[in-house]
Amino acid sequence: MNEALLARYDASLRGLARKDRLRTLAPRAGLDFSSNDYLGLAASKRLSEAVSAAIARGTPVGATGSRLLRGNAPEHEALEADAAAFFGAECALFFGSGYIANFALLTALPQKGDLLVLDELAHASMHEGAQAGRTEARLAAHNDVDAVEDAITRWRAEGGIGRVWIAVESLYSMDGDRAPMESLVALADRHETFLVVDEAHATGVWGPDGRGLAAAFEGRDNIVALHTCGKALGGSGALVTAPRTLCDYLVNRCRPFIYATAPSPLMAIAAREALAILSDEPLRRVQLHERVAFVGRQLAERCGVTPSGSQIQPFVIGDVRRTMTMAAALQARGFDIRGIRPPTVPEGTSRLRISLTLNVDEADISAMVEALAEVLATA
Ligand SMILES: Cc1ncc(COP(=O)(O)O)c(C=O)c1O
Repeated sequence: MNEALLARYDASLRGLARKDRLRTLAPRAGLDFSSNDYLGLAASKRLSEAVSAAIARGTPVGATGSRLLRGNAPEHEALEADAAAFFGAECALFFGSGYIANFALLTALPQKGDLLVLDELAHASMHEGAQAGRTEARLAAHNDVDAVEDAITRWRAEGGIGRVWIAVESLYSMDGDRAPMESLVALADRHETFLVVDEAHATGVWGPDGRGLAAAFEGRDNIVALHTCGKALGGSGALVTAPRTLCDYLVNRCRPFIYATAPSPLMAIAAREALAILSDEPLRRVQLHERVAFVGRQLAERCGVTPSGSQIQPFVIGDVRRTMTMAAALQARGFDIRGIRPPTVPEGTSRLRISLTLNVDEADISAMVEALAEVLATA
């Protein structure tokens, strides 16, 4: 073995370990307080039956090529038509993952000479798209509409004459807090900007029929939304909704869409069924919201935590080692709660991220909160 070849990677891994930041893959274990399977659809009968029926009638597993070549299957088109109607948008496009879709949007749509203003806590895929794109990108303080407006007016004062793009999440993945959507849309209208809204954690869970927190605005000319299919929808991939012109532009200019094998037609079937479930089974959302309220009350009473009001509840510890020790102690007690460290979250804000899904019930939640209180007292 040529050790010199791998030495710098080894050194980097040792460096991560010294800082308690080495990550490893571990098998699934314990009660689910960490997945994004919010509605419990991933293993649901309806999704698996929809996919089984598709296989039985001969739907192929693979798409066989790019959407622009032979990979454009009727299942993709049917999903996109349903998604556009469901989300109230002119057009929808199915991507292989939310990460790729965010990256693709922000590299393809904002043009040279434009400005992209990004919430500082937006998902890594948005930051990486912003970095890789042709557009000047500036960060705005988290959920601070005035900071977004300042960035726009400063850029205009400096001579910026292009179009402005604002990119945010509607429900933040590591804090569980919501974007001030109405104010952002008003700002976007006032400055004639585009607004890209990543609904990854809101889709299926919030808004009418689970259409997300930007549902009231989707379909407007200046709104582009991303609905991931790998979280509440229980599958994988992402649906981007936008005015038809922008979808057509993406089909022509978006390299990650053009130069990639299309997602499996079976996943398109699963995503389409999941959208139907959102309309047909509102009880799932009601039950999840009840559990969110229940865990909020319990955590406030037993652990002094301020409830986020969503299915994502952070418990900020600060110190990396203490966070990971607490996560390990909870896992040892049978609760799958993960510690989240920098660079995923800002320095000094390492946290336990408690995620609520229909895969646990109120008794599980009470037991988890009890264990958390014990671990807090000892760690
Ligand atoms: C806010 C947000 N956007 C996008 C993504 C990426 O989505 P996907 O997992 O489908 O690649 C994630 C997933 O972690 C996310 O949390």
